[in-house]
Amino acid sequence: MFYSAIRKVLFQMDPETTHDFTIKALKNTGASLLNFPYKQTVSEKPVQVMGIHFPNPCGLAAGLDKNGECIRAFDDMGFGFVEVGTVTPRPQPGNEKPRIFRLEEANAIINRMGFNNKGVDYLVDQVRKAKFRGVLGINIGKNKDTPEENAKDDYIHCMHKVYNYATYITVNISSPNTPGLRELQYGDALNALLSALKAEQLSLARQFDKYVPIAVKIAPDLTEEEIHSIAECLIANEIDGVIATNTTLARDKVSHLAHGNEAGGLSGAPVKDKSTEVIRILAKALDNKLPIIGVGGISSGQDAKDKIEAGAKLVQVYTGFIYQGPELVKDIVRAL
Ligand code: FNR
Repeated sequence: MFYSAIRKVLFQMDPETTHDFTIKALKNTGASLLNFPYKQTVSEKPVQVMGIHFPNPCGLAAGLDKNGECIRAFDDMGFGFVEVGTVTPRPQPGNEKPRIFRLEEANAIINRMGFNNKGVDYLVDQVRKAKFRGVLGINIGKNKDTPEENAKDDYIHCMHKVYNYATYITVNISSPNTPGLRELQYGDALNALLSALKAEQLSLARQFDKYVPIAVKIAPDLTEEEIHSIAECLIANEIDGVIATNTTLARDKVSHLAHGNEAGGLSGAPVKDKSTEVIRILAKALDNKLPIIGVGGISSGQDAKDKIEAGAKLVQVYTGFIYQGPELVKDIVRAL
């Protein structure tokens, strides 16, 4: 009720202005007496995944709080975990505007932000200041101008910087908006990246005397064979979890709509079934050797249940949350 009124106002502005305005408001009000418009109590539904205790299985997906500025506000909304980033070693502006489009008829978004972010040092500073005691995922990526053959160095650099501040670390190799990034999902490139990150994780675990799990985030645009070979590689490198999925390049469900053919990644309702299918195939291939975090088009408790039934242990939301607001978190937790 309340959010639908706010949404009417927010959706009058262009999507990026709305985003910046909202982030600023949440940054200034999280964990304060001014958080009453969005603070809510969500019932406890604890789950243990990747050796981490989650108060409930519904998380905020990466990309909304790229710089970790609103962690406490999302916690106030009752999310069981918050994933910030994608963050890169150095700050970068991202792609030219406009770069985000609402497809309201389809409950969808197309974005080609291109990892606009203030850099990993800024993010770590924000995380420190947040003094957050809940579950925090930090999602890491590569700078656009880092050559693809040096991508690994960017992930290692970010991993070092965030290790002591993250409950888990997500390795994002599935954004469609950084040229060449998705190529890291295949064959030798994937194996080389994951084995390097695993070695680094073990060395950091010794250094800090704590083990921070790594999750790898994959795209929905993969064949069954590709999913199988990713699963094998995740198991072989003892990766702790997998997040499925990122946004899709497919346009079949939206090409008839205004903005439906904009370049970038499509999210929301049109990616739902595709993500669920990837989870289903992945779950079979992984045979419970590592857990799946399901994301893509969840906009109701039932959608979240479908992801769990397909094999996910946790879920995340982004686009559904933009369209429905904090109430969605409550609905999902209630349904699971
Ligand atoms: C994203 N997503 C995303 N994912 C990621 O790993 N790093 C990122 O920086 C971003 N950025 C981003 C920006 C915008 C505007 C959107 C809409 C999405 C992908 C997101 O986390 C999620 O995986 C997909 O959007 C699918 O879930 P939903 O949105 O359908 O719930």
